[in-house]
Formats: sequence, C-alpha cells, structure tokens
Amino acid sequence: MSARAQNQSLATSGTSMSSSEELALLRALLRASDYGVLLSDSTGRDLICNPRFGEIFGFDVVEALNGGPEQVRVQMLPRIKNPDEFVQTLDKIYADPTMTSEDEIEILAPKYRLLRRYTAPVLDDDKAVIGRLWTFRDITRTRRLEMKVRLQADQLREQSRELANALKSAHGRLNKVESVLHQTQAQLLESEKLSAVGLLAVSVAHDIRNILTPLAIELSLADQDDRALRAESFDVMQKQLDRLSLLTHRLLGIARPHAMHLAPVDLPALVEHTADLLRPQATQENVSVVVELGRNVPTIIGDLGQLDQVLVNLALNGVQAMHAAGGTLTISLSRNKGGACLRVADTGPGIPATIRKRLFDPFFTTKENGAGLGLFSSRRIVQDHGGVMKVRSSAAGTQFSIWLPEEEKNHGG
Ligand SMILES: Nc1ncnc2c1ncn2[C@@H]1O[C@H](COP(=O)(O)OP(=O)(O)O)[C@@H](O)[C@H]1O
Ligand SMILES: [Mg+2]
Repeated sequence: MSARAQNQSLATSGTSMSSSEELALLRALLRASDYGVLLSDSTGRDLICNPRFGEIFGFDVVEALNGGPEQVRVQMLPRIKNPDEFVQTLDKIYADPTMTSEDEIEILAPKYRLLRRYTAPVLDDDKAVIGRLWTFRDITRTRRLEMKVRLQADQLREQSRELANALKSAHGRLNKVESVLHQTQAQLLESEKLSAVGLLAVSVAHDIRNILTPLAIELSLADQDDRALRAESFDVMQKQLDRLSLLTHRLLGIARPHAMHLAPVDLPALVEHTADLLRPQATQENVSVVVELGRNVPTIIGDLGQLDQVLVNLALNGVQAMHAAGGTLTISLSRNKGGACLRVADTGPGIPATIRKRLFDPFFTTKENGAGLGLFSSRRIVQDHGGVMKVRSSAAGTQFSIWLPEEEKNHGG
C-alpha cells in the first residue's frame, strides 16, 4: 500500500458498513501493513501506532502509549541518529498542519536502519485537518542492493575501460609484431637472393667443370704424332672454348650493365651472331639452328650488348628445352607494326600452363642448375628499350617474341 493513497478516496464496493465494522477493517489493515504507521492529533499527541512501527523502532508500542501520548516520542528519540534535527523537523511540520513531506531518516537502535518517512495531514469529510499520518518504510536492504548494483556497475565500467586499454595496447603490440614480421620478410627475401647467387655460383662451377674436363682430356692427347687425331683434338678443344665464351655471355647477361649504350643496332648481324654462338652447343644437343631474315626491317636504337644477351638467353633456353630429343631452333627477324620483331622458336615440349605465370619471376627455374634470371633480365632489357616481350607455347614448342620500336625519324633535318 502506498502512503499517498490516503490522499485519495478509498475504493469501496458500495455496500454500506457500520462505523465499527469500518474500524475493525482499518485495524486489520494497519496490523498487516509492512509500513510503520503512526497517527497523531493535529498538535502532535500520538494516538495510534501499528505493531510494525514498534518493531522498526524496537519498543512495545502498547506499553508506550499506555504511558501517555508523549511516550512514543520519548522512546523514539534515543534511537534516532540525528535527534536534534529530528525534533526540529517535527516542530516545523506540526507548525504547518497542511504540510506533506517525505524524507529519509536513520536509526541506530535496535539496529541500523534507513527509513523512508512520509507524513500528511488527515482530513475529515469537510476537509478540516483532524490529525497527522506518519509512515515509515524500512529501505535499508533496498538501498544496500542499490549501492551494490551501483558499485558493480562502476566496477564493470572500470573493467571495460581496462579491457579497452588492454585491447589498445595489444593492438599496438600487434602492429609492432607486424612491422618486425615485415622486416624479417625483407631480410628473408634478401637472404633468398643471396642463396640464389650461391646457386648461380654452383651452376656456373658445374658448367665450367663440364667444359674443362673434356678440354683437359683433349689437351693430354694433343701431343700425339697422328696429325688427323691431333686435328680432331683441337676441334673438340675449340668447341669447349666456344662453350666457355657462351657461359661468359650468360654471366654478363645476369650482371646487367647499369647504363645503356644506345646506338643504331644491326639486327640481322645480331641474329647471325647469336646463331653462330649457339651452334656448337646446339649441334651437341642434336639441335639445328635456323635463321630467317625478313626484308625492310627498320633500324632500331638500342644497346647492342644487352640485346645480344637477350637473344642468347632465349636461344639457350630453346636449346636446353630440346636437349632430350633434339629439334630445331629458329631465330627470325621481321618488320612488324612500326618496329622490328625478333622471334626465337623451338620444337621442344612447351611450357606447362601451371608455371607460365612465373616464367619472368626472378630466380624462377625448373632446371637443376638454373639461375632463373634469364627471362627476368631479358624482359627488363626489352622494356628498357620501349619494347614488348611475349611468349606462346604449346606441346609442339615454344616461341618467344620481342617487338622493338623503330628509331624515331628526326624531322628537323
Ligand atoms: N623455350 C623454353 N621451353 C620450355 N621452358 C622454358 C623455355 N624457356 C624458359 N623456360 C622455363 O622458364 C624457366 C626460367 O627460364 P630462365 O629465366 O631463362 O632461367 P633458367 O634458364 O636459369 O632456368 C626455365 O627454368 C624453364 O622452366
Ligand atoms: Mg635461361
């Protein structure tokens, strides 16, 4: 029951009740109430208390009221935390008979309690003030719970703040880890390159030994008397020396010169030169080298040494691709779309589709002693010349084509 309800009219079923019946009913209500209820006359003389009132304040209300109307206040005062303030408030309230107020008071005995105190005038049917109603509700537990909830909410807020901070710092650490990872990755890449250089050294050493061994054998046979045999020996030695020269070319191709030495390039001569250079090794691999020179091929401006390396790289790849079964390597030159087109075609097994994307990656190789730099550096050289390199491959063979732009005519004279 709300204490405020007493300012409104009571709900009744309409059946008429005698005053004594009504009184009995009200007494029952008061006894059952969880509120401590006190009724006094308009001057402050206490008249009625319910049992809950006595229970809250810890004294026998019947006994107290028997001792006279002042006794309730006498019993209450020592139990109040701030008795002076309590008395002042009472005086103020009784000085204004129509006053309604609500506040909180604390009592220390019989045990600590926080009470919600409400007071309002009691009016008769003509609205004249005939007394005052007081109710006291024990809100100790509710308040404690409220405090606890508030404390927990504060703790939760604090924890979530800490969590957010922890997350932020974890994020910072993650960023650091990531940057360290990046560094490590860069270092790894660097060391990978280094090991590729090591691989290259191994492959070169391997090639040189393959050249030097037959050379040494022939040399030991060279001082024989038979002229025919001696000539044969010299021939073999010449071939090995040619291979050595080819190897030098490859190495030069890898260590690309920084500056380009630009000049008009004699492309037909370049093609012939490459074919000548390749022939000894090609013959050994059962590969025939064919040159096809078209007409009206425009002059291009470029770096002869670098273009030579490109052509040797492609031709050598072709020969190497056919080494198992032999075949034909065709190096051709033609005019094409305002430029010159060089083609190196082989009749080898072709390039599997799975690796086609990686052909031009540095250090990509499928050869046991390959360096994987030939195509990478070749394409770079072609691009530096403003040209384009393309590859077409099938089971019938592979064709690399290089298009180089024609020299720009100087119209100024
Ligand atoms: N004509 C070709 N036929 C088949 N595969 C080729 C041909 N040219 C290049 N390749 C493939 O491309 C790879 C990369 O070639 P390249 O860059 O010259 O390096 P390397 O010759 O040292 O392996 C080769 O290992 C080979 O697998
Ligand atoms: Mg190669």
